[in-house]
Amino acid sequence: MADWSAIEALPSPKLTDLFDADPNRLAGFSLDVAGIHFDWSKTHLTKEAVAAFEALAKAQNLAGKRDAMFGGEHVNVTEDRPVEHTAERGEGNPESVARARHYHERMRALIDAIEAGALGEIRHVLHVGIGGSALGPHLLVDALGRDEERYEVAIVSNVDGVALDDVFDRFDPEFTLLVVASKTFTTTETMLNANSVISWMTEHGVEDPYGRVVALTASPDKAVEWGVDETRVLPFSEGVGGRYSLWSSIGFPAALGLGWAAFEELLEGAAEMDRHFRLAALHENAPALAAFADLYYTQVRHAETRAPFAYDERLRLLPSYLQQLEMESNGKGVTVDGRPVGRPTAAITWGGVGTDAQHAVFQLLHQGTHLVPVEFIAVIEQWDTLSEDHHRQLLLNAFAQGAALMTGRHADDPARSYTGDRPSSTLLLDTLDARTLGALIAFYEHRVFVNGVLLGINSFDQFGVELGKEMAKAADAGGQTFDPSTTDLIRRAGLD
Ligand code: F6P
Repeated sequence: MADWSAIEALPSPKLTDLFDADPNRLAGFSLDVAGIHFDWSKTHLTKEAVAAFEALAKAQNLAGKRDAMFGGEHVNVTEDRPVEHTAERGEGNPESVARARHYHERMRALIDAIEAGALGEIRHVLHVGIGGSALGPHLLVDALGRDEERYEVAIVSNVDGVALDDVFDRFDPEFTLLVVASKTFTTTETMLNANSVISWMTEHGVEDPYGRVVALTASPDKAVEWGVDETRVLPFSEGVGGRYSLWSSIGFPAALGLGWAAFEELLEGAAEMDRHFRLAALHENAPALAAFADLYYTQVRHAETRAPFAYDERLRLLPSYLQQLEMESNGKGVTVDGRPVGRPTAAITWGGVGTDAQHAVFQLLHQGTHLVPVEFIAVIEQWDTLSEDHHRQLLLNAFAQGAALMTGRHADDPARSYTGDRPSSTLLLDTLDARTLGALIAFYEHRVFVNGVLLGINSFDQFGVELGKEMAKAADAGGQTFDPSTTDLIRRAGLD
């Protein structure tokens, strides 16, 4: 078991005192990587805390585990697999990188063929998938595809038929390309949605609906068995985890909708962050410093949640993307060798979009009793076409919130008093394009990895989601005995 005593003994100085004591605090706790400025100066990290985390990282062999991940070793021990998402960006062992390149070439060739009209006229792209097979492509398309007019893209994940109905109202089946994204090609929700899209096409007279399907999967045989022609199956490696898969063929709707050049930029931005993560010393390493701050708050200050707020409408899906990435990766209770972790693991990730969130949940952040490390994500370059007042207000609000959380304000009336000393970090992108978004997402991936290694857990499995899935299947099959409450709910809904 790792020794956390030095970390647990870290003092909790006031943020404003830290600034007063060190005129160079800002320089010491901020850095610039891949078009993103990172500022942790308004967190309680100190040089002493960073040194303690560096010692823990050494004891936990972070550098060795990082090299093992990039080197293609089976660091996903419970599933006995390598972790290959960085190979998708060209950073990994040569064999994984070569395979990823080969799969990317296939994807590019299919995109070229679609653009040349091989599948007839395509106006709409309907992507069905769930979890990692939806959240990543959805974030990319929503963030970067706003002025793209080539295709109208919809990403449907929910098994609730309302989600597909909404798309059927808008899309013409004659001109729709169905993209079925599933690593396993067995996920109940995705397969039901895919079958319903095929029925909708058939009912509307599309002669060969399966001829308009592209499959994105690590189980190509299953896709072929389901009815997709092998030439339209875009594989990716088993070693690419679902929540790490937007770099692989799962990113197809983004590559198709935004163009191949943008997809390559996305990969290159991520590769730049990979190189930074691999080569920079830990006290100058963005993912490592962010993870140290995460662990300071979960382990020393017992924070149970953390809240990223995107001060940019284009990044409105980032908080839900991060929820899966962080909570599915590090929401674990046992170590890599199967023993109880014995300390809190991932914080609960929640968050929202600024400025909306300020008028909804920031009350609790400023005056509530929970300690919530806040993260502001903003973009310097204005993208909207309105007067500069909007962007100015947006950014000033983000920065002012961080200042208010830290300094607080005393008033004689306790209800009007702000205690302050509430931590926040800021990620400020020069611009939001495929490259900076790639770097941003890769930063979060590596931050999750550092958290996992220091906690001694495997960030790359997700057995926690299996039990509920199995029970839903058993309920569907009937003949399963449940507790009285569940039995009653099934009966009341007429599902027995
Ligand atoms: O239920 C969790 C999960 O396994 C995620 O990890 C994954 O991203 C999602 O389901 C979808 O799985 P698949 O891509 O195999 O359909």
